[in-house]
Parts: sequence; C-alpha cells; structure tokens
Amino acid sequence: MNVNDTNYRTIWLKDEETVQIIDQRWLPHDFIIEDLSTVEETASAIKDMHVRGAGLIGATAGWGMYLAVKTGVDLSEAAQKLCATRPTAVNLKWAVDRQIEAIENSTDQLKTAKETAETIANEDAEFCEKLGEHGLSIIEEIAKNKKDGEPVNILTHCNAGWLAFVDWGSATAPIYKAFNKGIKVHVWVDETRPRNQGARLTAWELLNHGVPHTVIPDNVGGHLMQHGLVDMCIVGTDRTSYTGDVANKIGTYLKALAAKDNSVPFYVALPSSSFDWTIEDGIKEIPIEQRGEDEVKLIQGLNNENEISKVLLTPKESHATNYGFDVTPARLITGLITERGICKANKESILEMFPENKTE
Ligand code: MRU
Repeated sequence: MNVNDTNYRTIWLKDEETVQIIDQRWLPHDFIIEDLSTVEETASAIKDMHVRGAGLIGATAGWGMYLAVKTGVDLSEAAQKLCATRPTAVNLKWAVDRQIEAIENSTDQLKTAKETAETIANEDAEFCEKLGEHGLSIIEEIAKNKKDGEPVNILTHCNAGWLAFVDWGSATAPIYKAFNKGIKVHVWVDETRPRNQGARLTAWELLNHGVPHTVIPDNVGGHLMQHGLVDMCIVGTDRTSYTGDVANKIGTYLKALAAKDNSVPFYVALPSSSFDWTIEDGIKEIPIEQRGEDEVKLIQGLNNENEISKVLLTPKESHATNYGFDVTPARLITGLITERGICKANKESILEMFPENKTE
C-alpha cells in the first residue's frame, strides 16, 4: 500500500539474514524501518508492538521461525518464545505451528522455512484482497440508496488496516476497493484508547491512500449512529470462534451494542487464519491480553520541539487497568467477510463456508 506514493508491504526479507518491518511505534510522525535478524529481536518486536495486528503478528512469527532455522535456534525453544509474546491473536500460534509442521517434514529445513514464511505472508495479502472484493459488494449495495454526492459512512475501530496485515488489511480492504472503484466513502475512525491505533495508524493509512476520513473519540460512535450518520461498521478480529464470537480491540463490543440498537449493520472482516476452530464460547474461552498501566496513564504524541514524547494524563498515584481486547457475541454481528465470501456469524454458516474444519 502507499506511503508517500511508494508501495510497501508491512514485512519483507531484505537479504538472507535480515527481515525488515515498519516500526509502528513511531507512526504517524516517523516512518522507521527496522531490521530483525534473531528470534529474540522478532519476539520483542511482537511483544513491544513494533508490529501488531493479527495478520502481521502471524506473518512476523512465520519469519521468526525462519530466523530460528537460519541462526540455529532449537525449533521448540523459538516457538515457545514467539508464542509467549501476545496471547489473543490466534494467527501467532497458527503461523508457528504451520512452520513447525513444514520444517520438521523437510529435508532442506532452511529452504522450507523461507518458503513457508513467504507463503504465510503472501497468503495473508491475497486473502485480504479477496475479502475486500466480497466486502465491496456490501458497500456497493448501500451506495445505491445514497443521494447523489453523499458518501457511504463507515465506522471502524482500532487498526485492521494494511498495517495490521501484510497488505490491504481486513476491515479496510472493502473500503480501499470501494474507493479505488470511485464509490464515495467516508470513514469514521475511532481513536481507540489506550494506544490509539485508530488515531495514529488507521488515519495515517487512509490519508496516504486519499480516503476521506474523520477521527472521533471512542465514545462518539453511538451518537453518530442515533443520528443516521453511520451506514455500516466494519471491524477486524484477533480471534473468532467457530460459532462466530469475535475478539477484537477493547471497545468493539460497545460499538456492536450501539449498532444493534440503531439497526446499523455490523460486519467483521477476517482472513480464515483468524478463526480458532477449537473455541466454542468466545467470552469464556478466548484469552484476553492485559497490558501495562502506563499505556493508559501516559499518552504519546509530537511535542512543540517536534519530538515524539509521552506525557502523564492521570494523577501519578492512580492505578489503571488495561484489557487489550473484548469479545463481541455472535448475535450482535451481521456477517463475517472472509476470503471465501460472506457468511453469518454462526456455526452452521461458518462451517458451511469452511467445511474442512467440521469435526463431526
Ligand atoms: O493490540 P493490537 O494493535 O495488535 O490489536 C489488534 C488490532 O489492531 C485490532 O484488534 C484489530 O481490529 C484486529 S487485528 C486484525
């Protein structure tokens, strides 16, 4: 996708020893490319959120396993290190398991690890593009009922954009497809406290692509929906149960409740790597990451000297809590947009679209 008119992916192999990533901690103010050459560095990049977002975490873990083979680190040690970084996005373990299976069954482990990492990344980009085509049909339908010149207003939460994947993004892919086709769209971007992935990353992405958008504080969405200013919501997911419960960035559930109350369609876009085929009850079973209180108490931005810095928002002595994700129950979701098409958020419809995961 575009950064100052240059096409980028979020992760790529620079040379046989080095994987490169965009260090997202400094966006939108600084665009910094970082080298990763060990499993340690890769695990830190995931844990400390130089890279983030379900698809990209998976792709990075895939490359981390390649670096393990390259640098002679024991596979199970590398897997354990990578999987311990962040608990909620299922793509992490999915990518590590896929690598282990491929490498263990190979006679040329390095070649296989490289090819598998490449496949994971390419598939992520390809699936996001495909789901974008399916999601486009929903936006096209809504656009037909709009008065001339009026945009389709889409609300999104956090960043499920190309920065959260390898390319295209999940929630953003239908939006980019619609925009590229000349359909008028406008995006309400939830700022997404505490790390502000919406205000910092989604806004930056949309700006670079030229998509009209407005950043809103997290608590504005309900008001906009009550006044007919949101035509649809599209969000991403870090893990979706085979029954259609969706774990996504904290605050998603509240948007889904407001959408239900106002009859605003609420869609979740995901490549199939974000399904967890072992989980039946998302609320009870999906592990929810808790992060440090500093992310809530301090806020990062550009200061008067044009430097990125953090300032304290709360009384120094106050405690804060920082749940990274919540689970939106399937009953609040209008549909799941996948690379194979759009299905309902229920077991029957999901397994009809992905029959290879049926167990009985
Ligand atoms: O904590 P993050 O930034 O890794 O969270 C991931 C997200 O950006 C969101 O939950 C997103 O909507 C889904 S990731 C495809």
